[in-house]
Amino acid sequence: MGAIIINGGRPLRGTVEISGSKNAALPIIAATVLHGGTYELRNCPDIADVRCACAIVEELGGHVTKAGQSLYIDTGQIFRKTVPEHLMKRMRASVLFLGPLLGRFGSAELTLPGGCPLGCRPVDLHLEAVAAMGAAVTLREGTICCHGPRLHGCCIDLRFPSVGATENALMAAAACHGTVTIKNAAGEPEICDLIAFLQAMGAQIRGGGTSELTITGGAPLRGVSYTVMPDRMETATYLCATAGCGGEVLLLDGDGSCLEPVIEVLTRSGCDIRQRPEGLYVKSTERLRASGHIETAPYPGFPTDAQAPLMAAFLRAKGALEISEHIFEDRFGHVPQLLRFGARIELAGNCARVRGADVLRPARVEACDLRAAAALILAALQAEGESVVSGAHHLYRGYDDPVRKFTALGASIRPAR
Ligand code: EPZ
Repeated sequence: MGAIIINGGRPLRGTVEISGSKNAALPIIAATVLHGGTYELRNCPDIADVRCACAIVEELGGHVTKAGQSLYIDTGQIFRKTVPEHLMKRMRASVLFLGPLLGRFGSAELTLPGGCPLGCRPVDLHLEAVAAMGAAVTLREGTICCHGPRLHGCCIDLRFPSVGATENALMAAAACHGTVTIKNAAGEPEICDLIAFLQAMGAQIRGGGTSELTITGGAPLRGVSYTVMPDRMETATYLCATAGCGGEVLLLDGDGSCLEPVIEVLTRSGCDIRQRPEGLYVKSTERLRASGHIETAPYPGFPTDAQAPLMAAFLRAKGALEISEHIFEDRFGHVPQLLRFGARIELAGNCARVRGADVLRPARVEACDLRAAAALILAALQAEGESVVSGAHHLYRGYDDPVRKFTALGASIRPAR
C-alpha cells in the first residue's frame, strides 16, 4: 500500500456508493466492550482503522467475524483490561476503549494513542471526564491507568466540545451508578449514531444532538444489531472531487443534511448539488468561483475533516478562498505537497489563502495524514499527466476501496506495483 499513480485531467462521471462512517463505526465497535454480548454491526467500512478496532476487541478476549459489510462481534469472553501499545499507536480511536473497559471492569490500562499528526492531541479531557465519575487516573511515561470500580454520577463541563472525550464519557457513564450530565458536549452526527447504538443496547441517554447530554447509568445492557450511518467525510471528499475535476456524480447513500456548510460553499461556487432519495447528486460544469473565508468549527460548523479536500477542490478556481483551521493546531501538512502541483497557496498562521491556478502540473507527492492523502489524490485527479501519491497507507486507514471507486467514475488511478 505504498503509492498510488494517477493520470489526471478527466471529469468524474457515474455513481459511487458511500460506505459506512469510520468515525461512527470506531466508537460503536468500542462500545460493544461495555457489555459482554453478541452484536451485528451492518454497513461497516472495510478500512484499516476498523480492522485495528477489531484487533483490539480480539486482543481483549473478544471474537470478531466479518461477512460483507457486517461485523459479528462477541464480547462475552473479554477478560483483559489492557490495550497493547502496538494497537494503541495505530490510531487515535484506540483511546475510545478507555470508557467501555472502565465501565465494565472498573479498570483500564492503555498507552497514549497514535493517529494523524495534527498537533499534540492530548487526552486530558478524556481523563478529566472519567475522573469526575470517580476513577483514579494516573498517566506515567505515556501509560494511562484508570481504576474506578464504582463510577458515580457527576456533572462534566467540557472545556472544549471534544468528540472523543464526549464519546468516552458517554460510554463510561452508561455503566455509572447515578446520573452523569455532560455540558458543552460535542454534537457531531457520529456521536448521535453512537448514542443511538447505546440506547439500542439499553442505555438511558437524553439530549443527543445537543450540547448537554444526560446519562442515567446502571440500566441493564444487551447485545444488539445496528446499522452504521453513511460516512459524512467520504461524502464530502467525493463532492469535492467532482467539484474540482468537473463532472456529474451520484453519491449513493450520501446524506447532505449533515454536510450543510460544505454544500453551501460548493453551491455558491457554482456546483449544482441536490439530495435525492437514493443519495446526493452533484454536477460541476464550470470553473469554480472562489470567494470568502471558511472557518472550521465544531458541528454544525464547517468540519475540520473536510478542510483539506475542500482546499484541493479550489486549486483551479477563479478567484481566492481563505480557509482558517480552528480545531487542530497543525492541520496544513497537505499544503507544501499541494504546492508541488503548481497550486498557489499562502499560509499565515492558521489561515491558508488559496488563489486558483489556471492549470495544475503532475507531481510526485507524499501524504502525511488521512485527509491530506485525500487532498493530494484530488489534486492529482485535476493535473494532466502522471502523478504519484506516496504514503497511500494513510488513505486506506479511512477510505473504503478508493481506487475502485474513482476508477468507476472514469479516473485513471492505480496502485503502484
Ligand atoms: C475526532 O477526533 C475525529 N476522529 C477526527 O477525525 C476529527 O477531526 C475530530 O474528532 C474533530 O471533529 C475520530 O472520530 C476517530 P477532538 P478527536 O477530541 O476525538 C483537543 C479523521 O480525519 N483536545 O474533538 O481526537 C484536540 O487536541 C479524524 O477522520 C484536547 O485538547 O477530536 C483538538 O485540538 C482526524 N484534549 C480538539 O480538541 C482532549 O482530551 C478537537 O479534538 C481531546 C481533544
